[in-house]
Amino acid sequence: MSDLIPVNEPDLTGNERKYLNECIDTGWISSEGPFIREFETRFAARVARRHGIAVCNGSAALDAAVAALDIGPGDEVILPTFTIISCAAAVSRLGATPVVIDCDAATWNMDVDAIESRITSKTKAIMPVHIFGLPVDMDPLLEIARRHNLRVIEDAAEMIGQTYRDKPCGSFGDISTFSFYPNKHVTTGEGGMIVTDDDALAERCRGLRNLAMKAPRRFVHDEIGWNFRMTSMQAAIGLAQLERLDEFVPRKRHIFERYTKFLSDIPSLQLPVPCTEYAKNINWVYGVVIADDAPFDAEEAMKRLAAKKIGTRPFFWPMHEQPVYRRAGLFDGERYPNAERIARRGFYLPSGLTLKDEQIDRVSAAMHELFA
Ligand SMILES: Cc1ncc(COP(=O)(O)O)c(C=O)c1O
Repeated sequence: MSDLIPVNEPDLTGNERKYLNECIDTGWISSEGPFIREFETRFAARVARRHGIAVCNGSAALDAAVAALDIGPGDEVILPTFTIISCAAAVSRLGATPVVIDCDAATWNMDVDAIESRITSKTKAIMPVHIFGLPVDMDPLLEIARRHNLRVIEDAAEMIGQTYRDKPCGSFGDISTFSFYPNKHVTTGEGGMIVTDDDALAERCRGLRNLAMKAPRRFVHDEIGWNFRMTSMQAAIGLAQLERLDEFVPRKRHIFERYTKFLSDIPSLQLPVPCTEYAKNINWVYGVVIADDAPFDAEEAMKRLAAKKIGTRPFFWPMHEQPVYRRAGLFDGERYPNAERIARRGFYLPSGLTLKDEQIDRVSAAMHELFA
């Protein structure tokens, strides 16, 4: 049998090695040094923001972003139930309450129409999270936020290089965040970025990522921060990756189109939406959802594909079904059928930047066998 097709593999064939060697040659390996500043500046410019604050991962970016908005006990933040726990954890860790809403059955993004009915006097912010390849419908969401005087924390972790109505994702929140985990369009191994146009928020985030160290006297603190710093070596890789983003985006779209071409005749498979009126799918990952009448669920399909040496990942598990939140009495009796369904029937196929046409074809053939 041919080799394993991994679910993801980054492309590190640009200037990554050269820039890393510069870190070693110059001794700049900590969070100081020119690569950090350059990566922050270039990344922020790419998403049309004034400030970029590099951090150690996308989850930390969310933690710092929520903290910078002074969200805490007694506050509520509205976010999708279908997302990674980093989003809800950034809220609950600070003693605030995540209020969740269902996702759309086709785009898997948060149902913007459901937001307004969940706003209370305690609501402080909305956290849109762009899922898998398509952005949240931001115009109506921003309008609701404006009307109710709510802050917007935009999680654009999966959307590097994506736009909403031709404006970059990551340019919509009071504060927006990204992840550079290796399955993202730009990777730094582990890493993240906070972006904003607000000088005060940017300054606060810079402090929070660095133990809230403050001039004039180092090691004297008037709040508790974290060590969320990114290293120069990560920034060096990120810079080399960013140089190639305009090459990576079409490559990911090609993967999307080739899968869609080969899989669209499998009736029991729901494929990702290619485009909406506001964006073309950027294929962070190629997700599929198995119809209810198929004789197996996502877990079984992933097992069968693993036997054919094909790597896959399950979809997110909804926040309202997380044991840790259930035990704490959160989301009692709440049901969100779209998220519950896709969590059980959805998974994603190999989607990494190095995926070759022959591999897409082999995965597609294996899917046809599975659903024959
Ligand atoms: C939507 C979303 N938000 C946040 C994160 C967390 O990023 P990280 O893994 O860098 O902590 C991820 C990770 O994949 C994500 O998909």
